[in-house]
Amino acid sequence: ESIYIGVDLGGTTIKVGICNVEGQLLHTYEGPTEVAKGVDSVLANIEKYVRLIVEQSPFGWEQLEGIGAGIAGFLNVRDGVVVLAPNIGFRDVPIRALLEERLAKPVKIDNDANVAALGEAWAGAGKGVDNCLCFTLGTGVGGGIIIDGKIYQGFSGMAGEVGHIAVVPDLEAIQCGCGKMGCLETVSSATGIIRMANDAVERGDRTSLATVEKIAAKGVFDAAKAGDEVALRIVARAAFYLGKAMATTAALLNPEMFIIGGGVSKAGDILFDELRQVFAKLTPEPLQRGTSIVPATLGNDAGIVGAAGLLLRS
Ligand code: BGC
Ligand code: NA
Ligand code: ZN
Repeated sequence: ESIYIGVDLGGTTIKVGICNVEGQLLHTYEGPTEVAKGVDSVLANIEKYVRLIVEQSPFGWEQLEGIGAGIAGFLNVRDGVVVLAPNIGFRDVPIRALLEERLAKPVKIDNDANVAALGEAWAGAGKGVDNCLCFTLGTGVGGGIIIDGKIYQGFSGMAGEVGHIAVVPDLEAIQCGCGKMGCLETVSSATGIIRMANDAVERGDRTSLATVEKIAAKGVFDAAKAGDEVALRIVARAAFYLGKAMATTAALLNPEMFIIGGGVSKAGDILFDELRQVFAKLTPEPLQRGTSIVPATLGNDAGIVGAAGLLLRS
């Protein structure tokens, strides 16, 4: 039996998983990334965790067909290079070649949200759906475009960076981490939601959030569910711009399904009801037909499953 390893390379944790050919996650392992120790040390950690997980599993090293890795940031997938990944402090790192040297196995890399999309399309909410778009709402807003069951890469492998679609009008726009103004990520990420809540409190708006010491996105959704007007307005704003970006991408790609994942998607109906309304309002009716908007189902595992899937589906 062949096995495939998926690596989710995050800013604090490296998660590793063994999948079978069907995308079933059989074993997981995780350890610290240790970004502060530098690129070599991060790569050494990946190697260590990959060797460890195989040792601890009933499988042999010879059954391992390859390793896939998902990384947040701008990647040149074709060349296997991390162009810019602020979370892990990588800039122009030829990670594919470096890992292939260490592990002597085929290595593939892709953007974190691209692999999450592939994971969901392979074994999650989009199982059996050939054309779907996945938005992940976390610290940032990521996206992955699945066309005919595969990740659509674009010219240099950076397609699907939906978090940087400019949706906020100039007068209300703030600067994004990418340097540009008005990106979706500035309003619909956990970071954006927290910022809007802190702004409201600072302005002196009447809200239950004013007494909270450290506001989290979940707290904003909970307050909204309890009827807090300010929180409701923030959720509506996050959902509005996300819905606008979805309508834009629907016009462009006509996906069968929108899959919404990441921590923020756990908000549930309060987010999804609003999202479906905005989408229906902004999208031409024929383009809405048959297109569903659903929550992701693999949760935190989407990244490792999809990364393993890179070996089979790219
Ligand atoms: C980055 C994407 C990433 C997303 C989610 C964005 O800021 O540009 O590459 O997929 O955050 O982590
Ligand atoms: Na992406
Ligand atoms: Zn941006």
